[in-house]
Amino acid sequence: MPERAPSELTESEEHYRLLDASGHPETSVEHLPFPAPIMGSDSADKSEERRGDKLAAYGALVSMLVFVCVTWFVVFTNNPTSMGWFPVHPLLQSLGLGCFTYGILTLQPTAHPKTKAAGLQRHQKTMLAVGFPCIALGTLAIEIQKFNRGHGHFATWHGIFGLVSVAWLVGQVILGGGSVWFGGAAFGGGMKAKMIWKYHRLSGYVLFPLLLITAHLGGAWSTWVTSHSQPVVRFVGYTVAPIVAILAIYARVRTSKMKFL
Ligand code: HEM
Repeated sequence: MPERAPSELTESEEHYRLLDASGHPETSVEHLPFPAPIMGSDSADKSEERRGDKLAAYGALVSMLVFVCVTWFVVFTNNPTSMGWFPVHPLLQSLGLGCFTYGILTLQPTAHPKTKAAGLQRHQKTMLAVGFPCIALGTLAIEIQKFNRGHGHFATWHGIFGLVSVAWLVGQVILGGGSVWFGGAAFGGGMKAKMIWKYHRLSGYVLFPLLLITAHLGGAWSTWVTSHSQPVVRFVGYTVAPIVAILAIYARVRTSKMKFL
């Protein structure tokens, strides 16, 4: 493979850089997840991390690990093969939420052109290749289960929040993908598409707690979980862990990237 100088961009990095070729001086490129040129040596020296960022990242990862482990433990210690399609639901939903957490952390924040390109790639792989399919299949599983057993749909707060968050998730994927794929062609390309990315970010920070509230409702209150697990296990897995994850992700938010005016 030919060597490349440290300052050279790969083809895909160059592609993202070109997205910013509009040259609008008033437009900050800080909020973008993809690399854009910043004049001077400033960008190379700028640290991406604030005090407490690392602690918050560990907090988010550990709490989601607890949430996933509690879920898998409760399912696998309760004779999962006797429950039709149901076990697929908590197993995949928890895995999907774990992926979303990592996918958000990996973009929080990225400031240098190279870390932006790498972060965006990790984000897309985690969200689209694993997280989203898990949530889609996990939702399909519970719908098949309910259909097979003749149970009513969306009859609980968990079911209603689940429906809303899954629909929102589909919109979230469209907003995010549309604003970066093919130079954001789906949203008119260039700066127009970049503006949409801001909404993808904001919407993601609302959707993340919504998904965790959904998981809390299903884990802490549903009849199946309450009759198949210890109260302390449920409390740690479905109340403490989601709260810690939300606080940790919010602690890492850069409000400077949230300006809309
Ligand atoms: C973000 C994650 C989750 C989403 C989006 C979600 C979504 C849903 C939806 C849409 C339904 C209702 C389907 C219908 O009524 O037709 C449902 C049902 C159910 N889910 Fe989840 N779920 C999630 C996580 C969990 C977790 C972690 C558990 C257990 C630990 C769980 C346990 C249940 C149970 C027991 C039901 C059947 C009872 C009911 O409808 O409330 N879910 N889920």
